[in-house]
Amino acid sequence: MALSSNQQTLINRCIEFVKSELSDGEKGHDWWHIKRVWQTAKLIAQKEPVDQLIVELAALLHDIADSKFHAGDEEIGPSKAAKFLSSINVQADIIEHVVQIIRHISFKGGNHLSEFSSPELAVVQDADRLDAMGAIGIARAFHYGGFKNRLLFHPDIKPNLRMTKEEYKKSDAPTINHFYEKLLLLKDRMNTPTGKALAVKRHAFMVQFLEEFDQEWNSVI
Ligand code: ADP
Ligand code: NI
Repeated sequence: MALSSNQQTLINRCIEFVKSELSDGEKGHDWWHIKRVWQTAKLIAQKEPVDQLIVELAALLHDIADSKFHAGDEEIGPSKAAKFLSSINVQADIIEHVVQIIRHISFKGGNHLSEFSSPELAVVQDADRLDAMGAIGIARAFHYGGFKNRLLFHPDIKPNLRMTKEEYKKSDAPTINHFYEKLLLLKDRMNTPTGKALAVKRHAFMVQFLEEFDQEWNSVI
C-alpha cells in the first residue's frame, strides 16, 4: 500500500537524518547499504501483510548506531532512533515497534532465541540478510575485514559454528571464516518466500567464490 503524503514526509526527514549520521562511518554499513536494504525491504513488503511505514522507517534506521562501531553498546541505536522519531512526531506505538525491530534484527552468531517477532521485522531482516550475501555480501565482508585488519584466510584457523553471542562479537577470525560462521547460513534462515527466492542465487555465487578461492590458494600453497 502506498504511503500518504504525511508519511512520505516522515520518510524524507528520516533519509536526511540517516545520511548525515552515517556520512563518515565504515562503508559496508553506509547510506548505500541502508538504501539497498530499504529498497529490498519495499520489494519484499509488496507480497507481505505488513505496515509499510514501519517497514520503511525500520529499514532506514536499522544501522543508525550499530553496536559493532560503538564499543558493543546495543542500546545506542534503538535510543538514537527513538529520539529522532519522536522529534518528528511519529506516533508512540510506531516508535516502539521500530525500536524493537532495530533491537532484534541482528544475527549475532544465530545461536540465541529471539524474544520478539513481527511480520515487519521478518521483512527488514530478510532485506538486511540479502545485502550480506552474493557479490555485494562478499565485498562487504572483505571491506569489514580490512577495516578491522583481519586476515583474509588462515589454513589453521577453523570456522567455529558454536560461538555464543559474546564470542561472535569478539571474534577476530579471518574473513573467509565469516562465510562459514554466518553468510552461508543465511539462505536457510530467510523469513519470507520472496526473501528465500532472492537468497538462492546470492548463496550459489558465494559458494562458487569460496570454491575458486580454495582452488587458487591450494594451487600455490
Ligand atoms: P551481525 O552479524 O551482528 O548481524 P551485521 O548484520 O551488521 O552484523 O553484519 C553486516 C555485515 O558486516 C556482514 O554481513 C559482513 O559483511 C560484515 N561483517 C560483520 N562481521 C564480520 C566479520 N566477522 N567478518 C567479516 N565481515 C563481517
Ligand atoms: Ni544492516
